[in-house]
Amino acid sequence: MNQMLRYIESELYMESAALNRIAEQVGTPFYCYSKANIEQQIASCKAAFNRLDATIHYAAKANSNLSILRMMAKAGLGADVVSVGELERVIIAGIPAEKVIFSGVGKRKDEMVAALNAGIGQFNLESIPELDALILLCESLNKTAGVSVRINPDVDGSTHRHITTGVKGSKFGISMEQLDQALSRIGESAHLQLRGLAVHIGSQIVTAAPYRKVCERLRDWIVNLRRAGHAITHLDLGGGFGIDYGDGNYLDFESVATVMHETLQGLDNLQIAIEPGRSIVGNAGVLVSAVIFRKEDDPLPFLILDAGMNDLMRPALYQASHPIQPLLERKVEMEVVNVVGPICESTDFFSKAITLPKIAQGERVALLQAGAYGAVMASIYNSRDIIPEVMVDGDRFETIRRRITNHNLLEFE
Ligand code: LLP
Repeated sequence: MNQMLRYIESELYMESAALNRIAEQVGTPFYCYSKANIEQQIASCKAAFNRLDATIHYAAKANSNLSILRMMAKAGLGADVVSVGELERVIIAGIPAEKVIFSGVGKRKDEMVAALNAGIGQFNLESIPELDALILLCESLNKTAGVSVRINPDVDGSTHRHITTGVKGSKFGISMEQLDQALSRIGESAHLQLRGLAVHIGSQIVTAAPYRKVCERLRDWIVNLRRAGHAITHLDLGGGFGIDYGDGNYLDFESVATVMHETLQGLDNLQIAIEPGRSIVGNAGVLVSAVIFRKEDDPLPFLILDAGMNDLMRPALYQASHPIQPLLERKVEMEVVNVVGPICESTDFFSKAITLPKIAQGERVALLQAGAYGAVMASIYNSRDIIPEVMVDGDRFETIRRRITNHNLLEFE
């Protein structure tokens, strides 16, 4: 939930700014974030993971707008990045390189070189060939790299099949069978400094049970690896904490921190890290859009929005649903409608057969919980603009990314 979003005298407000007022100045569609909500999430994440003394590395992929990354820097968080582009962004935002973890199954050489030159704290290695490539680069640049091995713990996060990552057969992580080999190569190299293990079992996970399972396994493995002489000093537990997309299911920081604390107790000298993305910024954002047409149809009418799947891809890609609210609260009858975008694809829908107060053509709506994996996943499909992003702070708002127009893009052709 985003408590910063509420009706005041029938107008939907983000903090103390009416979304309709912003829409008139910025033009729809646009993303709008609440600064206070993000600050609140950072604070409750820190409070919950304090007992584990965990370092928090914001997963930049959830929303890598510079203004948002600057908030993470200001709060003292580190970052989890998966590309040189994200690395550049977090450094520009002021996150110290030593607090940066570089994840990803396919890091290119130029990306690893950039990360080595920046002096990042940790590479999470996901395959033996990647490990070999990093050793060669370190040798040629005469650098040392802090590394952890991302393992595939074969634990099912019970989330959508497209965003589950920790089961056997997924492309992520090194299997337990190859872990010994990976650790001995690291041990043999003068250029790699072993830190420990990393896992990330998936995203939008709404119960603590998979975390309990993975932590129990990790606890035993770490004990065994330490006995075998490997200096495991760091454990990166990834992100994945789910938010409430309207069905009441989510995983709060407290529950997951409690489970991690309980299961990992007794392992001394182990620095825990987490990489939350969605849970920090997801609730803070809405996508504001106008109804271009109301198309009466049988069996259900359509609300055709000016936002499309290119602006918010989650429904088309994962059958995700984002709650929809009109910007103007009116006493009208409820109706069942289909809410779709204007793109020439039948996957371009936001909600099928959803019950909403009757919304007229020209009215504006907000799609909620759009702060994570919204703007960052946008495309220019159908030669559409990349829409603006706005940050609200109290009664003021600021455009934190201007519209990128088709005219801008035409200059490259
Ligand atoms: N760490 C690693 C290594 C990851 O791959 C991810 C997300 C995270 C941390 C952050 O996970 P979070 O706390 O945000 O769940 N586009 C999809 C989500 C893909 C997540 C990919 N990895 C969606 O819109 O649901």
